Amino acid sequence: MKLLLKFNLVFILIFALGFAATGFVSWRLLERNAREEIAGSAKLLMDTALATRNYTSAQIGPLLETQMKYSFLPQSIPAYSATEVFNDLRKKHDEYGYKEAVLNPTNPRDRAVEWEADIVTQFRGNAEATELIGDRDTPTGRSFYVARPIRITNPACLRCHSSVEVAPKTLVDRYGPANGFGWNLNEVVGAQIISVPTKVALDRAERVYTVFMGSIAGVFLAIGVVLNLMLWAMVIRPVDHLSRFADRVSLGELDIPDFERTANDEIGVLARSIARMRTSMVQAMKMLDG
Ligand code: HEC
Repeated sequence: MKLLLKFNLVFILIFALGFAATGFVSWRLLERNAREEIAGSAKLLMDTALATRNYTSAQIGPLLETQMKYSFLPQSIPAYSATEVFNDLRKKHDEYGYKEAVLNPTNPRDRAVEWEADIVTQFRGNAEATELIGDRDTPTGRSFYVARPIRITNPACLRCHSSVEVAPKTLVDRYGPANGFGWNLNEVVGAQIISVPTKVALDRAERVYTVFMGSIAGVFLAIGVVLNLMLWAMVIRPVDHLSRFADRVSLGELDIPDFERTANDEIGVLARSIARMRTSMVQAMKMLDG
């Protein structure tokens, strides 16, 4: 096998191993970063929802108390305001989502759909769980979710969510007697669920990955070309010339000009040795002739 071929096979093998290992490690890192970014924005949105809820119960609720005697104003309900704020946000960012998904909701738009009901069931089965996270497929691409249980810990909630008899008449007038009642203290009735698209962050990670791997391939390629040229100019070509010179001498062409190699490297030393050998041969021949 030719020297250059051997060298290139080893080089390509090392390149392939290095490239695969770098690709594997860097994609893992980039993907983890992207996932942390996605989870970070989901947590931020969750806290925004909680803040909206707190604002409503601390400031809007008391303000509307008297009014509520005459007509029911959902604006005073934390779940309503958080959902409304997010619906407004969704006008600009429709791939994001927030839902107070409840199995038996007062407002039918809050009813948990199948996958949300699964999450609520998991919370109902595991009292310790305070958060569930996961991925799921949606028509607009994969979506990451963070869910927290809605547990009825405050007896005051039961005023409107336990039974039609206890509930304010204005509430029943507005929502009807069929939904949102029968909740119990300490029961998990639903889950707050934030959905964040994974596409934006993962696409960005993919772009960084492509550029990164592309530049690594470019650097390896450049190194490969330079090493090939160096190997050719410094070893292969002089050795080739030298072997042709030695060939001709061995076939009896004793008067060809000396092999020119001024460099003081190993091949230069070899060239001088061969030249010396030729001189010794010529002298030996002369002695034989004489
Ligand atoms: C004054 C009556 C009232 C009280 C007290 C009340 N809620 Fe509600 N709640 C409602 C109404 C009305 C809705 C539906 C609002 C809407 O139109 O979105 C609602 C909606 C909800 C929802 C969204 C799901 C659904 O049923 O539509 C959750 C979750 C919820 N309430 C939890 C609570 C919790 C927890 C408490 C106690 C801290 C509480 N509520 C206290 C009246 C009340």
